[in-house]
Amino acid sequence: MKWVGRVWILWVWIAVVLCSRRGAVGKEEYMKYKDPKQPVGVRVKDLLGRMSLEEKIGQMVQIDRIAASPDIMKDYYIGSLLSGGGSTPLPRATAADWVNMVNDFQNGSLSTRLGIPMIYGIDAVHGHNNVYNATIFPHNIGLGATRDPELLQRIGDATAAEVRATGIPYVFAPCIAVCRDPRWGRCYESYSEDPKVVREMTDIILGLQGEIPNGLRKGVPYVAGKNKVAACAKHFVGDGGTTKGINENNTLTSMHGLLSIHMPAYYDSIIKGVSTVMVSYSSWNGQKMHANRELITGFLKGTLKFKGFVISDWQGLDRITSPPHSNYTYSVLAGVLAGIDMIMVPYNFTEFINDLTYLVKNRFISMDRIDDAVQRILLVKFNLGLFENPLADLSLVNEVGSQAHRDLAREAVRKSLVLLKNGKTANDSLLPLPKKASKILVAGTHADNLGYQCGGWTIAWQGFSGNNDTSGTTILGAINSTVDKDTDVVYLENPDSEYVKSNDFSYAIVVVGEPPYTETAGDSQTLTMVDPGPDVINNVCGAVKCVVIMISGRPVVMEPYMSTIDALVAAWLPGTEGLGVTDVLFGDYGFTGKLPRTWFKTVNQLPMNVGDSHYDPLFPFGFGLTTKTMVARSVSAGVRRAAYVPIVMVFLFVGLYFQVKRTKLSRSPASLFPRWVSSFLLNHFQNSRMARGPPQIQLC
Ligand SMILES: *[C@@H]1O[C@H](CO)[C@@H](O)[C@H](O)[C@H]1NC(C)=O
Ligand SMILES: *[C@@H]1O[C@H](CO)[C@@H](O)[C@H](O)[C@H]1NC(C)=O
Ligand SMILES: *[C@@H]1O[C@H](CO)[C@@H](O)[C@H](O)[C@H]1NC(C)=O
Ligand SMILES: *[C@@H]1O[C@H](CO)[C@@H](O)[C@H](O)[C@H]1NC(C)=O
Ligand SMILES: *[C@@H]1O[C@H](CO)[C@@H](O)[C@H](O)[C@H]1NC(C)=O
Ligand SMILES: *[C@@H]1O[C@H](CO)[C@@H](O)[C@H](O)[C@H]1NC(C)=O
Ligand SMILES: *[C@@H]1O[C@H](CO)[C@@H](O)[C@H](O)[C@H]1NC(C)=O
Ligand SMILES: *[C@@H]1O[C@H](CO)[C@@H](O)[C@H](O)[C@H]1NC(C)=O
Repeated sequence: MKWVGRVWILWVWIAVVLCSRRGAVGKEEYMKYKDPKQPVGVRVKDLLGRMSLEEKIGQMVQIDRIAASPDIMKDYYIGSLLSGGGSTPLPRATAADWVNMVNDFQNGSLSTRLGIPMIYGIDAVHGHNNVYNATIFPHNIGLGATRDPELLQRIGDATAAEVRATGIPYVFAPCIAVCRDPRWGRCYESYSEDPKVVREMTDIILGLQGEIPNGLRKGVPYVAGKNKVAACAKHFVGDGGTTKGINENNTLTSMHGLLSIHMPAYYDSIIKGVSTVMVSYSSWNGQKMHANRELITGFLKGTLKFKGFVISDWQGLDRITSPPHSNYTYSVLAGVLAGIDMIMVPYNFTEFINDLTYLVKNRFISMDRIDDAVQRILLVKFNLGLFENPLADLSLVNEVGSQAHRDLAREAVRKSLVLLKNGKTANDSLLPLPKKASKILVAGTHADNLGYQCGGWTIAWQGFSGNNDTSGTTILGAINSTVDKDTDVVYLENPDSEYVKSNDFSYAIVVVGEPPYTETAGDSQTLTMVDPGPDVINNVCGAVKCVVIMISGRPVVMEPYMSTIDALVAAWLPGTEGLGVTDVLFGDYGFTGKLPRTWFKTVNQLPMNVGDSHYDPLFPFGFGLTTKTMVARSVSAGVRRAAYVPIVMVFLFVGLYFQVKRTKLSRSPASLFPRWVSSFLLNHFQNSRMARGPPQIQLC
């Protein structure tokens, strides 16, 4: 009896101790959503269940940093911030300046009742392009010319590191537009006119977000960790198919046209785990995409089972009406009902919040629709680890503009250059140029202009001119440091022909092209190079052997100058690493790039894409001459090369067969043969360095 009593006392004592312990650690109530051991789905559900309407609507709002403060983040429960093009904390802000700014806003969000972290997004479309001293990679059109998905993955990886270094976890990239008309001002944001090339290039998502590990489900939003960012496939859908290439205009095409040309890269992006999708300003057959419920909710979320969040473009809801913002309440209704989850407002958040609150309270928009939006946003935030690590530290700051990233960008530049002409006759090739010469001339508006070389979306929204706004190597600078020390380099932006004739130059390098532009400002019905480009070509190439390097976001009018020019290189918008240009110009590496677009003869032919019945290009899609590397790199490479010869021959013939078949038959070659055949070709033919065919296998 006594003994049993003692046991009782012992039990009571244990219980008291346990309870008090529990009380000590768990003074705060245990909340499932804060527990990283819980599955993400459980955390989302738990958190959603705790949120008020006000808190839910706040999650759906994205505003520009210029309209934000820590108090605004807190008072309005703002779910997301962005930097629009050129929206930086300071001119020439360092990575640490960026981190401190982002953390300052984040502290506002964390001090709310539920402490839901905000997600900061930015247009990192060719490297971390708003940031001073970041590595600027070639714009997408140049990357399309590389036909090298593995390179794209490494670029995604480097870009993610530079973006995370500034405290930012989310990029509005990649643009997977299929530009069908180069008159479009955003054509350089498109990898290719061919949906198949665009599909391959979505491998950049694997670099930005990380690869979905084996064993995890494909097709579900995924981000691998603290050095990775959430990506955004844009602009859904048909942005590159508008009439005459007019930006934000109308894409007139059948459902079949939409599904075979503009939609396929979305399947790939979703399978690869893309976290978000941005809606296009454009219309499809007269209906604004921002109000297209059938395609956003029906097709993207329904048929394709996309589980991440859908974001509007900048003031995209406003532009549902014409003129923009003429009936904002209606725009909010139409956009949210269409299925848009996060709205890039980006300034007047009180107006948006008031309108959406009104529409929900009066049951124009259901609570289910709001919950769908919010749970998608929370899913991406949990995936990113924002709840565990909401504040960035300075551990990655040296990633911005690192030498390793600049080397990678240089590699991308040399693989993106397309050699269109090499010598006036077949036996008379000018490239590669000799490094040793007595005197050479460098000329043209784009030879020593880093801003021009980078194009739009660089430092400022519309890009910049000159060499002061960020660091990098101009093409002139690259030439200076590549030629022999005894070669005399003369640089004149616009020399007169008498001067050129009377100076006994060994050869000339002319660098001309388009000025920087972004979005609508880049729409052009004439597609000419900027003056005095044509004069420079005529004055220089009329007097001395010359190579013209074209810096442009798309094919431009070249036919009138072709007979004067000895050699022509399409360099697209290469970015900060001018040494990639001289790597191939002087033969340290061979040219391998292939046209990602058709090069037209005259603008009257447009639109004209590979497979069209009126196809009569100056240079066809896929064209690109090759040159040999001047330096033998290593003996073992030579041996391996020899061993590969028979295999390469087989692939060349298989490739030739399909190339020919495709020109004959279809605009959408991927649909012609079974998937395993196309992926076989993708992996073993196009990606293979060895199999980058000599020019004669290209269809002409
Ligand atoms: C930017 O790069 C230049 C040249 O590499 C360097 O001198 C400068 O310190 C860098 N500035 C910042 C803010 O990183
Ligand atoms: C954010 O809050 C944390 C924790 O309170 C603090 O250590 C940090 O200095 C704050 N950061 C900024 C940029 O205000
Ligand atoms: C397309 O552009 C034309 C000409 O600028 C304009 O009148 C029309 O409203 C635009 N259509 C759309 C859908 O934006
Ligand atoms: C806004 O659009 C709605 C729905 O179409 C309409 O009922 C309302 O009258 C419009 N308001 C204005 C001011 O045009
Ligand atoms: C925001 O929108 C509201 C409602 O249309 C308007 O009254 C207010 O002036 C706007 N604020 C700003 C800063 O534009
Ligand atoms: C090119 O060289 C080949 C032999 O090497 C010669 O037969 C041919 O005539 C040359 N063509 C031209 C245009 O010089
Ligand atoms: C760029 O910087 C140089 C040297 O600091 C200066 O002379 C020049 O005026 C600047 N150019 C522009 C366009 O700001
Ligand atoms: C390149 O060399 C030329 C001629 O020596 C010189 O005028 C120019 O300033 C140099 N430019 C760069 C960017 O190195």
